Amino acid sequence: MEIANLVLTLICVISFTCTHAKIGYFWHITDFHYDPLYTPQGDTRRHCRRADERGSSGHHRALGRFGDYSCDSSLELIESAARYMRTRHSENVEFVLWTGDIIAATYTGNEDTKYQAIRNMTELLSQTFSSHFVFPVLGHLDPAPSASLTNLWMHWLPLEAMQTFQNGGYYTIEQSYSKLRIVVLNTNLFSARESSSPPAKRQWDWLDGELEKATNNKDMVYIVGHAAPGSDSRYPYDTSPDANAKYLRTVRRHARIIAGQFFGHLHADTFRVIYDNDRPVSWALLAPSVSPHRDPGGSSNPGLRLYKFDTNNGKVLDYTQYYLDLAAANRNAGAAEWTAEYNLTQYYGLHEVSAVSLHNLADKLRIGTPHETNVFYKYLRAYNVRYESSDNCDGACAHQHFCAITCLEHLAYRQCVEAAASALAAAGESAPLVAPLVNVLLTLMGLVFLVV
Ligand SMILES: *[C@@H]1O[C@H](CO)[C@@H](O)[C@H](O)[C@H]1NC(C)=O
Ligand SMILES: *[C@@H]1O[C@H](CO)[C@@H](O)[C@H](O)[C@H]1NC(C)=O
Repeated sequence: MEIANLVLTLICVISFTCTHAKIGYFWHITDFHYDPLYTPQGDTRRHCRRADERGSSGHHRALGRFGDYSCDSSLELIESAARYMRTRHSENVEFVLWTGDIIAATYTGNEDTKYQAIRNMTELLSQTFSSHFVFPVLGHLDPAPSASLTNLWMHWLPLEAMQTFQNGGYYTIEQSYSKLRIVVLNTNLFSARESSSPPAKRQWDWLDGELEKATNNKDMVYIVGHAAPGSDSRYPYDTSPDANAKYLRTVRRHARIIAGQFFGHLHADTFRVIYDNDRPVSWALLAPSVSPHRDPGGSSNPGLRLYKFDTNNGKVLDYTQYYLDLAAANRNAGAAEWTAEYNLTQYYGLHEVSAVSLHNLADKLRIGTPHETNVFYKYLRAYNVRYESSDNCDGACAHQHFCAITCLEHLAYRQCVEAAASALAAAGESAPLVAPLVNVLLTLMGLVFLVV
């Protein structure tokens, strides 16, 4: 995508001899939840905003400059993330995926100030990635597609993409120098409210057409969107069961050319495996949010993700997950020290990033040997982006994670969760995962699942 790459491609075409440098990187950043009203003098009961005169009764503690787990992002947090990304691999970065929810859920500004806030975030990314293309994706908190939004992002989008974006919030990017096509979906059109609307139907037709075209051209495809298919206990979302099932059928049908699916929305680091008759055929990786997150089931630190891939065919080779220990950053007052959290292949000991390898990983989260419990802890630590909590993820909770990863059909997910619940009930208790009992419980669960 960079001009340098275009030049390199031209030189390659002219000289015939050189093989294009194969390794490239792309950022996946998501869920900024920028709150222009965040202030360290704010009140956590008021989304970390200034309390009005009457309400300020000394109930609130001083908040951090870089944000608070119970609130959306401060500007300083997002600026620190942008500064950090500039220092990493900038010369090899090919593009940036920016998967939506730009503005805080509770930001009450009018349309005009929301637009201003999005413009400010766009400018920040334009400065951060001055020679790169950022591919924006609409989240459920973002405005509906419009001419003004399209104009805001026109420096990143080719003409054809601008047209479909303006009409429906989706578009495709053909990489001129490689066999990789990026397909950006508007997953808001999968919601129960929208899923039978004319725009939703147009997106399906368009998606089928793009995947057919890619098949004929022997292109590989990245599918990019805000909300992943499937279910999750963290952020129940009203994706229509029909749209969810249809999406999964589409992925199964075209699994051979889908080199990856990338989503945000959950504010958690997790993954999904898609099966076709029990055979793992495709995967989706869900990146954690830039925004901190507080949740009864486990909070999370801010995260940024840098993928490593083969630029010729899009094959994902690895990613490095970066994060900010928010509590430490606020204690340090002066500095937000973003740092590498882990590398996917090394962390889980994967030989490659594929549906089969991720299926094997998921399988280790399922059956409860002591070794598997360790893998689950690793997974949970990543899921929460190293937020240190008094882990209250019991056996049922652990199994819910397994169900969310492997059972993407809504009904299958519910059945998976219920089966675990009754297995645990049969075992008589639901001990915290830290207790030694858990191994017994998980083994029991494993046995039950082997039998079923
Ligand atoms: C956007 O940036 C301008 C210039 O820095 C600032 O005055 C304005 O308050 C910002 N607006 C929002 C909503 O962030
Ligand atoms: C993780 O991957 C990055 C990028 O490939 C590399 O620079 C770094 O050394 C790796 N870190 C670890 C801990 O392996």
